Amino acid sequence: MMKREQQPRESEAVSIQWFPGHMTRTKRQMEKCIRLVDAVAEIVDARVPVSSRNPVLHKLTQGKPRVILMNKSDMADPEETKRWLQCYRAQGTPAIAVDCRSGRGLNGFIPLVREVLRDRIAAWEQKGMVGRTIRVMVVGIPNVGKSSLINKLCRGGKADVADRPGVTRENRWFTIGKGFELLDTPGVLWPKFEDPIVGEHLAFTGAVKDEVVDTERLACRLLEALVPLYPQAVCERYRLEPSFLAEKRGDELLEAIGKNRGMLMAGGVINTERAAAAVLDEFRSARLGRITLEKAEG
Ligand code: G4P
Repeated sequence: MMKREQQPRESEAVSIQWFPGHMTRTKRQMEKCIRLVDAVAEIVDARVPVSSRNPVLHKLTQGKPRVILMNKSDMADPEETKRWLQCYRAQGTPAIAVDCRSGRGLNGFIPLVREVLRDRIAAWEQKGMVGRTIRVMVVGIPNVGKSSLINKLCRGGKADVADRPGVTRENRWFTIGKGFELLDTPGVLWPKFEDPIVGEHLAFTGAVKDEVVDTERLACRLLEALVPLYPQAVCERYRLEPSFLAEKRGDELLEAIGKNRGMLMAGGVINTERAAAAVLDEFRSARLGRITLEKAEG
């Protein structure tokens, strides 16, 4: 589904070490919990909608009706987000763009779930179950914004530990409105860590801790990814001539950025470590602009 731009000169991908330790445990917990809910709300990072998904979610959630929340949409390219939303809909999964930090877009959450459960709700009502509580499981890989979503939707994020079957310490229910309950993801949902591009894209966004990666190489790779997609943003932010970008490797770009920013060490050597930290920080805080690294096709 994702188009990857061919780049003129690429340095090697930064490899990310993932530890799938909890996979089996999460699978087991999911199997138990999925029976307790009517639908699944999958949160993805709108900047990396492919890499921020779990590769086997459909299987794990046993085909339950699903909606997608494109979170962090405040930092993603609005045009690309629009395309992704159309793409999800075309595939039969209703989706909305949200910003769980400010709460923008979250008014659409309950209507979205009702939409995907429309037939079921009609069937319940026919059986006399009018106003039956709707239960939704919130799923997403670490750092995608699950806690922020729950906090915003239930104002304060206080767990509502009801005395009912299926409620354990690891499995918390939140009431977000009359007749509407959320279940936090049981376990840690993993991304598709065997794909190096996925690991790298998640590292760009900060979803993978910087302690486990070489940040200088990561910043070089990020620049190589940004140049073909958002050349203007790179030129404007780092005062580079458009003609300079052509055929440049990430390390050459990083040197130029460090130089332009006056990041020099003793002897006039460019401090590329500082330049790398600046590039990563400015991408992650959207000071480089609203950027989507993975495009929807079509
Ligand atoms: P998780 O439960 O899925 O692990 O994710 P969590 O909600 O903890 O969110 C991870 C980080 O992403 C947090 O930042 C959170 O504020 C930020 N975040 C979540 N949703 C959005 C969004 O829609 N837009 C933006 N811009 N950021 C979002 P943090 O740096 O870890 O904490 P803090 O800066 O909020 O203190």
